[in-house]
Amino acid sequence: MAYIPTRQLKPGMILSEDVADVNGRLLLAKGQAIGANHLTVFKMWGVPEVAVDQDENVPADPAPALDPAVMRRVAEGLQPAFADNDLTHPAVAEIFRQAILHRCRKGTVQRTAAADRPVKVVSSPTSDGTARRRSLRTRDIQLPEIPTLIFRLNDTIADPFSSADDIAQVISKSPGLSALLLKIVNSAFYGFPSRIDSIARAVAIIGSKEVSALAVGITTLEVFKDIPKTVFDMQAFTHHSLACGVLARILAASGSIRNTEQMFVSGLLHDIGRLVIFRYFSKEAAQMLASPTGGSLYDQEKRALGFRHTDIAVDLFEKWKFPVALTQNVIFHHRPVSAQDPVKAAIVHLADMIAHSLGEGKSGEWRIPVLDIAAWEKLRLSPRALATMIPQALHHLGFLMTIFP
Ligand SMILES: [Fe+2]
Ligand SMILES: [Fe+2]
Repeated sequence: MAYIPTRQLKPGMILSEDVADVNGRLLLAKGQAIGANHLTVFKMWGVPEVAVDQDENVPADPAPALDPAVMRRVAEGLQPAFADNDLTHPAVAEIFRQAILHRCRKGTVQRTAAADRPVKVVSSPTSDGTARRRSLRTRDIQLPEIPTLIFRLNDTIADPFSSADDIAQVISKSPGLSALLLKIVNSAFYGFPSRIDSIARAVAIIGSKEVSALAVGITTLEVFKDIPKTVFDMQAFTHHSLACGVLARILAASGSIRNTEQMFVSGLLHDIGRLVIFRYFSKEAAQMLASPTGGSLYDQEKRALGFRHTDIAVDLFEKWKFPVALTQNVIFHHRPVSAQDPVKAAIVHLADMIAHSLGEGKSGEWRIPVLDIAAWEKLRLSPRALATMIPQALHHLGFLMTIFP
């Protein structure tokens, strides 16, 4: 290990110690590879020097040596879940590698895919899917009403005479939500130099739109918290949603997308339509979850119900008058290049694929979603950059999981 002045650091060097800002907030965790963006952050926060492994040619994953036999076993167990993906593509190969490393470190060695389960063909739906979709539209099945807080926030944001203080006041009416929001914005995930001790201050520093987006994301997930465990494990679902949100925010920041909170919330809510299915079509959901057909759950939804979770998200977000940009990011996360803003939808798509690969939480999907190569190319990311971003996301996810209800 050697202490190197920040100006002499090179991308790819591996940190031997955590790097924190002057207020003790973590900027980058020990063991991670320094990327070009980190150099800017270190300089911005006035970090004079950092401890790095002396040999700068060490690989980007300097974790304690892993048992090759265990790694091989994990790789073999994981391979069927990647069956639909092209493992020769450099980005998929890097995600696969990160998934193996992460699962080895976590000790999740068990087989993860259902591809080796017996293939069972689901018979065609007993009722017409189109009619069922229409029944949602005609409110035979009532989608949940908009939570009061989101309704008031929508109203306040739409009012041209409302101020940032008005928005802060609406959020502050919910002490539980306010406390959670403050924990999030004071975490290293945000890395603000001074403590934010009120929603009014959070709104002033981060921006009213961003804080509102966070509040809406958290409140929306809460609406479905009573889904029985016999249908789906909501804790695992929240875990998957948070993983996708954290990854989306980090991927967005690396692509210089400014509204990173919207990307966090897009990730957080990307599978919200599935919660509607779990709640209103619990019988069909149980059948789909219990009998994987060898295809993706995304396709099974279409066969069994006549619509997919992304279709229901359209109805819910329309009803709740969510911003078009957020709606687009969510409803196109399985086919991002069709979105109005394909880059943002591609970020959610990639974040979802990575979250599944890492085994962080569950959405009901058995297989790793197929990485859309056209979407990947829109992001202009190097596969190597994933080796930095994925451990960074896992670090923040670990913290967020401790504070999320
Ligand atoms: Fe999805
Ligand atoms: Fe997902």
